[in-house]
Amino acid sequence: MEVEHTPVLLQEVLEGLQIKPGGLYIDATTGAGGHSRAILQASAPSGRLLCIDADPLALETAQRNLADFATRVRFVCANFLSSKPLPHKRVSRR
Ligand SMILES: C[S@@+](CC[C@H](N)C(=O)[O-])C[C@H]1O[C@@H](n2cnc3c(N)ncnc32)[C@H](O)[C@@H]1O
Repeated sequence: MEVEHTPVLLQEVLEGLQIKPGGLYIDATTGAGGHSRAILQASAPSGRLLCIDADPLALETAQRNLADFATRVRFVCANFLSSKPLPHKRVSRR
């Protein structure tokens, strides 16, 4: 993992979301991807995640940190407060 960031209340988030293998989840404040990684691990082998963040640099970091889950995650640079529909344009996966 590239950026050292300790995801807060991680266990509480996983319990609250009641993650199920194969489930579909959204992390609307992805940051470096700490909670996202835990959601992807807990929803293996086929759970899918939409990662949203308003900060393109944070998304780039999360993309690198979540590279080993590339087939199960999508990244969208957007503000979750915005009422505009999320852009369909996917952030490219390197
Ligand atoms: C504390 S960090 C999240 C850390 C992340 N959960 C982790 O474990 O690495 C908060 C992130 O939320 C993003 N953010 C804050 N408000 C937002 C909004 N309204 N829409 C989208 N992203 C937002 C910030 O850009 C920042 O990257």
